[in-house]
Amino acid sequence: MIPDRLVLATANPGKGRELRELVAGWGPVVVAGLDAFAGVELPDERGGSYAENAVAKATAAARATGLPALGDDSGLEVEALGGAPGLRSSRYADSDAERIAKLLAALRDVPEALRAARFVCVVAAVFPDGRVATAEGVCHGRIAAVPAGRAGFGYDPVFVPEGFDRTLAEVGAEAKQRLSHRARAVRSLGERLQHGPAGV
Ligand code: IMP
Repeated sequence: MIPDRLVLATANPGKGRELRELVAGWGPVVVAGLDAFAGVELPDERGGSYAENAVAKATAAARATGLPALGDDSGLEVEALGGAPGLRSSRYADSDAERIAKLLAALRDVPEALRAARFVCVVAAVFPDGRVATAEGVCHGRIAAVPAGRAGFGYDPVFVPEGFDRTLAEVGAEAKQRLSHRARAVRSLGERLQHGPAGV
């Protein structure tokens, strides 16, 4: 069942904007941000999987607000770095600019053909009565040699999605919302909620 109201369990404005638009694709859902509620604390992302972290965030928001909540955990997995930064993508360095600089430095001697990477996102819907549904989305691509573009957030300026020769920050919001890991995860969760077992 698609809920008619939902709170987004994220403090990241870039993710919040994208999730809000993507959830609109499910139909007429009234979406609130955490800023509409006082003092909701999201847990640290210390779980052992994206799913664990996404469920933990959504559970905290559902408990605190009494509303169904949508949590998201995501990361960038770079093949030449053995899948790093992965689950630790947000803790890789202190700011988006520093994270990008550190990533490009780690890949300095890696040629274009070996710079394969993927974004992974798991979204979790948690209902106040404890029901949980999750879905994963993946976006394949490669890491650019230098940052380019101003759209999006996070690692977007250095991620070139498969089939493109420009970064996610250059292709812009409309294209990103069609092909991103988050878009795929939210579409898949919508289908799961719509057609899922009784009650979810
Ligand atoms: P978390 O899901 O809040 O742990 O974020 C993981 C890290 O990956 C953060 O540094 C985000 O900025 C980054 N990240 C997650 N999704 C995206 C995206 O769609 N584009 C660029 N960076 C992202």
